[in-house]
Amino acid sequence: MPLPTDEKIVALSQELLQQFDAIFGVHPGFRPAHAKGIMLNGSFTPSPESASLTRAPHMNRPSTPATVRFSNSTGIPVIPDNDPNADPRGCGIRFHLAERVHTDIVSHSTNAFPTRTGQDFLEFLRAIAATDLTHFPGSPLEKYLGTHPAALAFVQAPKPPPSSFARESYFGLTAVRFINKDGVSRYGRYRIVPEAGNDPLDAAAAAAKGPNYLFDELAQRIAKEPVKFRVVVQLAEDGDTVDDVTVHWPADRTLLELGSLVFTEPVPDTAHEQKRIIFDPIPRVDGIDASDDPLLELRAAVYLLSGRRRRAAPES
Ligand code: HEM
Repeated sequence: MPLPTDEKIVALSQELLQQFDAIFGVHPGFRPAHAKGIMLNGSFTPSPESASLTRAPHMNRPSTPATVRFSNSTGIPVIPDNDPNADPRGCGIRFHLAERVHTDIVSHSTNAFPTRTGQDFLEFLRAIAATDLTHFPGSPLEKYLGTHPAALAFVQAPKPPPSSFARESYFGLTAVRFINKDGVSRYGRYRIVPEAGNDPLDAAAAAAKGPNYLFDELAQRIAKEPVKFRVVVQLAEDGDTVDDVTVHWPADRTLLELGSLVFTEPVPDTAHEQKRIIFDPIPRVDGIDASDDPLLELRAAVYLLSGRRRRAAPES
């Protein structure tokens, strides 16, 4: 995947990485966001109706190998799983289409994001960095949230910790454009829905858990049974905003079943693989195009620059 030719996007990406470093510290070999993770291998089976939406290869063959990386929020590699800042959880999915050919879904467990643009997200991070949370009134963060309703809504959205990474829903948020074999195109947003059902914990139940409860639970679960998700697309109607992650579509929009993910085993040598894999929010596959959402190109650049830095760090 290439870096964008737009120097402004590359410069903004570097500033964002520096801001993450300033907030969470530098942890060579780890991600500056979603640092603590775990990976599983399995496969994707498309639903019969998926081919009506997209001619993408993995929707038009019986099965495709897939890998998932679940993660806690923040750039702190040892963040306790029951720390309130560990939500939203991350879910990066890679579909292995051929040798070194793949397409990804990058999603998190809150159906919202604080800002439409990367520049605004940088301002949000700067306000967080400049704020002592024990003195919130009058702080830069209070001022920022007072003038940015989407960020306030994101901050206030309930983010209960799950009992398991396998019992959480994840949202792709940034719209993509699906194109079928007849050239008909439709915008949509991915949702990753757990077969085992959502199981949010209340504060007391979360406080009673250990600092690695999610990672331990997933290791125990996968040793006994597969971890299964449905891949669903919320379809836009004509006139829906498809280039702004802060705009929600009406709740009655059609949810089309794309298929099912079944993960059966942990990724061997997970520390090495987590260091190596660089997820890409831009689909880069025939049959699924990026939308004009400005976060897609920016994040692709941020994740690539960050991934190169991570890969260059010495093996620990
Ligand atoms: C301005 C917007 C955003 C910025 C600057 C940003 C920044 C980052 C950074 C720096 C990383 C670490 C990347 C790496 O080293 O591989 C990351 C990872 C991640 N982000 Fe974002 N992010 C943004 C928006 C989003 C959105 C909208 C979502 C959810 C849909 C999301 C979900 C994730 C997930 C799941 C990961 C972990 C991926 C993995 O497992 O490798 N991010 N983000």
